[in-house]
Amino acid sequence: DWSLSPDVHNCKPVKPSAVGKKMDCCPPKIKEIIEFTPPVVPTPRVRPAVHLMTPDQIADLEKGIQMMKMLPEDDPRSFAHQAKVHCAYCDDAYKQMDSTMDFQVHENALFFPFHRAYLYFFERILCHLLEKPDFAIPFWNWDAPPGMCMPKIYTKPSSSLYDENRDKCHQPPKLLNLNYGGKEVKDPEIVDFNLRWMNDQMSVETAKEFLGKVIKRGNGPENGSGSIETSPHNNIHIWVGDPEATIHGEDMGHFYSAGRDPLFYAHHANVDRMWNIWQKMKDRPRDHTDMDWLNSSFVLYDENRKAVRIKVSQCLDSKILGYVYQDVPIPWKDTPP
Ligand code: C2O
Repeated sequence: DWSLSPDVHNCKPVKPSAVGKKMDCCPPKIKEIIEFTPPVVPTPRVRPAVHLMTPDQIADLEKGIQMMKMLPEDDPRSFAHQAKVHCAYCDDAYKQMDSTMDFQVHENALFFPFHRAYLYFFERILCHLLEKPDFAIPFWNWDAPPGMCMPKIYTKPSSSLYDENRDKCHQPPKLLNLNYGGKEVKDPEIVDFNLRWMNDQMSVETAKEFLGKVIKRGNGPENGSGSIETSPHNNIHIWVGDPEATIHGEDMGHFYSAGRDPLFYAHHANVDRMWNIWQKMKDRPRDHTDMDWLNSSFVLYDENRKAVRIKVSQCLDSKILGYVYQDVPIPWKDTPP
């Protein structure tokens, strides 16, 4: 068994290279870890597209995020702590259990399951705070024209969804470039480019190409990212982050700060949605079947402040986790590269 799990009892301060100094992203001390069991849900929650949310859905989202922001920082359900989860798992606060190597969820096949589990608990915390079991987080539908700019509801300074550390030049209605590399491309071509790019990135055949490379206990970080992680996922992070921020690129442009932007969770919900779409693009199972991948696990706090261990094998089907995505047109399917 070469599966990976984080050694959560030995969380260390991190030192993101961009920041150059130590910072503490560790969760409150974990005493007991309970094993995850899938929720019993009569009908799955439906995660809406941001641009199609009803006023009530928007109000709930704003209220829920606000409630998270009001919780004390040492409450693992607080927004501050939720942001730190990303920092801890992505800036190497944990070692792999029984190994001297860092536990890293980017650039390998832990990328999709980790972010799914992270959003899953984030959503459960919101449901709990709002006392609305059906509440579902929205997805930023950046793969289709109506979603190809920064979602407006996140850009009102009075809203809990606002974050001032974003690129001033990328405010709506500025169109998103899914393969943004720091340079602006002429707008009239960009929507068509984006659709062709999505088609290209989603058309990869193998689990390794889509989900990324399976790494085993003792393996170091490797450049084994899947297609969507590489682009558009990374590019959107950079496109949203503020190039004029203190260190350059916060919040979305760095691992340690990305989770501080409420838009992060809508961005990742769409990344997660891409996994669902890819799984169904062929009439056969497509995910990795490697047992070491399936047995790898993450430890996250739930809505009752309990630390829960969830395995990759428990993250493969979003329906089992109790949610699906709103059905919206997928125009890139008919836009070959
Ligand atoms: Cu953990 Cu979008 O990255």
